[in-house]
Amino acid sequence: MIEIIGPLIHSASAPAASPSTASRTDTGAAAAGDKPAPLQKQLIERLQQAILTGRLPAGSLLPSSRLLAAEMGVSRNTVVIAYEHLAAVGYVVADKKGTRVSPLSSPTARGEHQVQPAAPEAFYATRVGQFGATRTHADNTLPLTPGTPALDRFPLGAWRRALERSMERALPLALGYGAPAGEPALREAIATHLRVSRGVRCDGSQVVITEGAQEALNLCVRLFTDPGDIAWVEDPGYRGAKAAFNLGDLTTLPMPVDLEGMAVPADAWRAHPPKLIYTSPAHQYPTGAVLSVARRLELIAQARRSGAWLIEDDYDGEFRHTGEPIASMQGLVPDAPVLYVGSFSKTMFPALRIGFVVLPGAIAEQAAVALQEMLRGGHRLEQLALAHFIESGEFGRHLGRMRRLYRERQQALRDALTTHFEPSQILGGNCGMHLTLRLPPRIPDRLLAERALAARLNPRALSGFALQPRDETNGLVIGYGNTSAEQLAPAIAVLAGLMGEMAGARVA
Ligand SMILES: Cc1ncc(COP(=O)(O)O)c(C=O)c1O
Repeated sequence: MIEIIGPLIHSASAPAASPSTASRTDTGAAAAGDKPAPLQKQLIERLQQAILTGRLPAGSLLPSSRLLAAEMGVSRNTVVIAYEHLAAVGYVVADKKGTRVSPLSSPTARGEHQVQPAAPEAFYATRVGQFGATRTHADNTLPLTPGTPALDRFPLGAWRRALERSMERALPLALGYGAPAGEPALREAIATHLRVSRGVRCDGSQVVITEGAQEALNLCVRLFTDPGDIAWVEDPGYRGAKAAFNLGDLTTLPMPVDLEGMAVPADAWRAHPPKLIYTSPAHQYPTGAVLSVARRLELIAQARRSGAWLIEDDYDGEFRHTGEPIASMQGLVPDAPVLYVGSFSKTMFPALRIGFVVLPGAIAEQAAVALQEMLRGGHRLEQLALAHFIESGEFGRHLGRMRRLYRERQQALRDALTTHFEPSQILGGNCGMHLTLRLPPRIPDRLLAERALAARLNPRALSGFALQPRDETNGLVIGYGNTSAEQLAPAIAVLAGLMGEMAGARVA
């Protein structure tokens, strides 16, 4: 047997028991630090491995406990306990002749020739192959990272108090499952806030709380599409939308974007009728275009005509920097076929993982039963704390402070960029926490982003957001949310230097 399972490793401090002293158990030689595992555990694992790999084929008779104890240099009790354990979990069975290996389902365990495993990708569903490796795993708190808010300016004290308050008032009941669509107090607080600040037509019953905007997008796909349906996305556009569409086995069609936002070709409605249309009208991600009112009205009218739903992703519309606030598309006309998606990832912090979708009133009612089955109410303390944070005015004050801060930071970034580049290369900036810089084709954006990362800067390659990369999608998406005004000029000088090296000349 020892040739099959190998010798056991005996602890130096607990020398192997000789067969003649075979009455104690050997579990005392417990593994600690680099000590070997207890002999009983080692024996169980060795036998399991030998059975699973077919070295001990199904039906083979194991030696008696006395014989094996003598051979392995352990107490008989150790072997008896190991056999009992293996019998309890089904590796062996005891019959009249002794202890036998059970028939297991794996071919190797049955002693059959080992089959070469298929390539790992063969195990995945086809849709998994559609995910491009466009996300870098860079530290998303590095300077110039798009989408990360000013984490060091978040009012932690007020948030801690809100959490403590919800613990004091809602425990222990809030440890149980919550309402599937989220805490009613938070749904109401969000609806009130959205009516006032974003012009969304809604009440709390239409708000479904989700784990960030991403789950809201997934939910829209599940509620409103069947596999194979057509979905349009802005190109370049938000990768999270494409990911949600892939998960729903939708046929995703790229829609070009220009300075007025998503530009739908005239024949697209007839040629490729969509079921879902993803758009970020307040601040197109990532080019920063604001969808014009004419296009908003046209999208709404056409979607209505063709039975499509518009997903309005208002991810950073709260941070409006120029002119009057642009209200939501959802509120533009009554009963617009719009699923309004929002997130607290930018307005609070990304790790909070709270977002929401505002469903049209009638749909919210009809979907209630499905939502009961699809969702589980969790993160209740955070939701209750957030409701209080909003109702108490803390959220509004934080937004006001952040709006001013981001405005300042954007100006510093713009100043730094115009020192090195033409103003016409700079896109966006009406809202949010990033600007986009177009690059000439001779500076490949992914290469530049890689080199920037080596210099501990994390702007993203614009082409990484494109379904169909073109000359116009060569650029950098540069975040200023989490980068102080003082850091911006030196950081942009580093980028310009890298570009100079790449081009072998000054880039302008
Ligand atoms: C366009 C867009 N929508 C939504 C989100 C927020 O997603 P989530 O709430 O899942 O963090 C982001 C975050 O980067 C984004 O860029």
